[in-house]
Amino acid sequence: MTDGGMAPVTDPLPFDRPDEKPTMGPTGRPMPVLPEPAPLTHHGPARVVAMCNQKGGVGKTTTTINLGAALAELGRKVLLVDFDPQGSLSVGLGLNPHEMELTVYNLLMERDVALEEVVVPTGVPGMDLLPSNIDLSAAEVQLVHEVAREQTLQRVLAPAIADYDVILIDCQPSLGLLTVNALTAADGVIVPLECEYFALRGVALLKTTIDKVRERLNPKLEIDGVLGTMFDGRTLHSREVMERLVQAWGDKVFHTVIRRTVKFSDSTVAGEPITTYASSSAGADSYRQLAKEVLARCLDG
Ligand SMILES: Nc1ncnc2c1ncn2[C@@H]1O[C@H](COP(=O)(O)OP(=O)(O)OP(=O)(O)O)[C@@H](O)[C@H]1O
Ligand SMILES: [Mg+2]
Repeated sequence: MTDGGMAPVTDPLPFDRPDEKPTMGPTGRPMPVLPEPAPLTHHGPARVVAMCNQKGGVGKTTTTINLGAALAELGRKVLLVDFDPQGSLSVGLGLNPHEMELTVYNLLMERDVALEEVVVPTGVPGMDLLPSNIDLSAAEVQLVHEVAREQTLQRVLAPAIADYDVILIDCQPSLGLLTVNALTAADGVIVPLECEYFALRGVALLKTTIDKVRERLNPKLEIDGVLGTMFDGRTLHSREVMERLVQAWGDKVFHTVIRRTVKFSDSTVAGEPITTYASSSAGADSYRQLAKEVLARCLDG
C-alpha cells in the first residue's frame, strides 16, 4: 500500500456494511445473504420437485444431479428420479443402462414391484436414485390405457415421502404424459432456462401446462423457481436474457445463476456430480449456493 494509509478504491466492499449499497447479483438484483441451513434432527416428509422444461439441453439433468448432491452435502436425504427414457441422469451417476435389473418402468407398470427394490444408492452419501433407461418410453404409450394414468408416478412415489427430505424428478424434454405425471406428483417445479435468446420461446406453453395441471390434477403445485443456466456474464447477450427473465418471472428467478463451464460435461463423463468431481470449482459452488437458496425458499420452515 502507498503512504497516507488510504485503502485503494478497488477494495471489495465488506458484506455487512448496512450503509453501503448491496452487492448486485448476476440477475441484476441485489444479492441477498443466504442463511446457513440448520442441520436436521429427523428426515421427511419430502418435498417433491420436478425439473421441467420441454426444451432439450437446458440443464435439467445437470441441475438434478448437482442440486441433489449439494443438498445431500447439507445433510438432506435426497431421492433422484430419472424420468427420462434417455436415462441421462442414471448414466451421469455412473450406471450402465444395459445392466439395470429394475427401473422406474417396472415400478410404474408392475403392481408387485416395490420402490425399495428399484432404489439404488449413488456415490454421494445420502443421495439415492430411481434409475431409468429406454424401457421408460414404452410406459408413455402403455399408461394411456391405465385408470388414473396421470397419477401413476404420484402413487408409486408415496412410500418414499416419509423417508426423504427432497425428491427431485428429472423430466424428459417434452410435455407429454410422463411430464404430466411428474407435475402431478410434485409440490414444486424448477424451470432451468439456458441464458440465450431462444430460451424464452416455449416458456408460455410450459406455464400453460403447469397451470392446467394445477387446475385439474394437483392444486398444490407451485413454481419454486426459474434457474438461469449456461450464463456467460461477459456477454451482453446473457445479461439481456437474464434481464428479460426477471421482467417476465420477477422473484421466481433464482438469484443464483449457473455459469457456462466445460466442467459439467467432464463430470458427466466421470459419472459423478461436479460437487465431488471438481469439488472446489465455481460450478460446484454455484450448485451449493442454489441448494441454500432452494432451502431458504421452499424447503426449510
Ligand atoms: N452450466 C453449464 N455449462 C456448460 N455446459 C453445461 C452446463 N449445464 C449443462 N451443460 C451441458 O449441456 C448439455 C445438456 O445439459 P443437460 O443434459 O443437463 O440438459 P437437459 O435439459 O437435461 O437435456 P435433455 O432435455 O436432453 O434432457 C450436457 O452436455 C451438459 O453437460
Ligand atoms: Mg436431461
